[in-house]
Amino acid sequence: MEKETVVISKGYDPLKYNGAVKPPLFLTSTYKFKSAEEGESFIRVALGLDKGEKGFVYSRFSNPNFDIVEERLSLLEGAEAAAIFGSGMAAITSTLLAFVKHGDYIFYTNPVYGGTEFLFKEFFEKMGVSTMHVKAGSDTPNLIEAKINSFKEKIKGKSVILYVETPANPNNVMIDIEAIVKIRDKLREEGLSAKVIVDNTFMGPVFQSPFEQKVDIVLYSATKFIGGHSDIIAGATLGSKEDIYKVKGIRGMIGTNGNPFDAWLMARSLETVHIRMQRQMENATKVAEFLSKHPKVERVIYPELYDKNSEQYKIYKKQCKGPGSLLSFYVKGGKKEAFKFLNNVKLCKLAVSLGGTESLIEHPKAMTHSEVDEKSLRDAEITDNMIRLSVGIENHEDLINDLKSALDKI
Ligand SMILES: Cc1ncc(COP(=O)(O)O)c(C=O)c1O
Repeated sequence: MEKETVVISKGYDPLKYNGAVKPPLFLTSTYKFKSAEEGESFIRVALGLDKGEKGFVYSRFSNPNFDIVEERLSLLEGAEAAAIFGSGMAAITSTLLAFVKHGDYIFYTNPVYGGTEFLFKEFFEKMGVSTMHVKAGSDTPNLIEAKINSFKEKIKGKSVILYVETPANPNNVMIDIEAIVKIRDKLREEGLSAKVIVDNTFMGPVFQSPFEQKVDIVLYSATKFIGGHSDIIAGATLGSKEDIYKVKGIRGMIGTNGNPFDAWLMARSLETVHIRMQRQMENATKVAEFLSKHPKVERVIYPELYDKNSEQYKIYKKQCKGPGSLLSFYVKGGKKEAFKFLNNVKLCKLAVSLGGTESLIEHPKAMTHSEVDEKSLRDAEITDNMIRLSVGIENHEDLINDLKSALDKI
């Protein structure tokens, strides 16, 4: 079956629930066992002590609404298994906690989402995990290799995570996933334990499928395109059965699970993810073309507008099925001009987040990336005049008129 069909039909059988075509909402915290023996066995499996038959025990471990989304998401992404979470940050934190310990290494690309950067520096560094970044771009694989080589002696016997966010938030820079996977394979040949983790929030699940490049883990802020309506905070991690088993063990232990209603909303939203993301992408292409020709706009960063001879364009064409609907642009001037513009948009909502049906516009330096240090901001060209726009499903002419009238006010 094609993916558009899978997200509507798999993971739920109406005939098991009085014929209800849509899944019921399972608002229960705990589950009745058939026997004491069954209870004992289900609990041991839920806690990761045994690998027997899984059953419902307690909604911090699992819930039927979680299972429906997890099955559909894994089929959509081409993964063996999935785990959903109460937020994207909960997914990132729980996943890393499953695979790193004191003394291990995380090499990551810069920029990443501001909250992720903060998590690495303020949480994992303090736990004794070394977190080091290299600049995101066409040269990232070489930079990561050079960085790893400079730690060659120290990383012996340690776990190494290669953490990639592509396209990078907010500057839309692409990183060659296949080349990062080759670095992992080399590390493994040298006897190291290494994993590639990709934050696929910007393009997935429709326009980028990192498991095709053989990454280990894909992460999501499901708050964005998967939720798709700016009405939930959620996250997801996908990977092999073995890896997700470990990740779910952490989820159950520290309680980073979401709630049944958000899972129900995710299952509902996944049904339309293809048509939403397609329409958003079509709108974004038109908006990007308009902005690129506007005299008050210095530069637009959108995959379809990359220089066709550039490495960035080659990477984009190699690993993405479309340009997505996130674009960044620089207005002429500085913070004053950028704020003037933002204070005059009316249809686009001045708000952080992305991937919803409505267009969202924000100032990365003052908002989503305000925790990021000056050097990283400079490296990622997150400047005073940079704007990030997540294009929604509105009529594209209305969007363009809104942006035009706000630009005219600068
Ligand atoms: C790329 C990316 N990853 C992760 C996150 C964190 O997700 P959440 O806000 O759902 O915790 C965000 C949030 O904006 C994001 O943009």
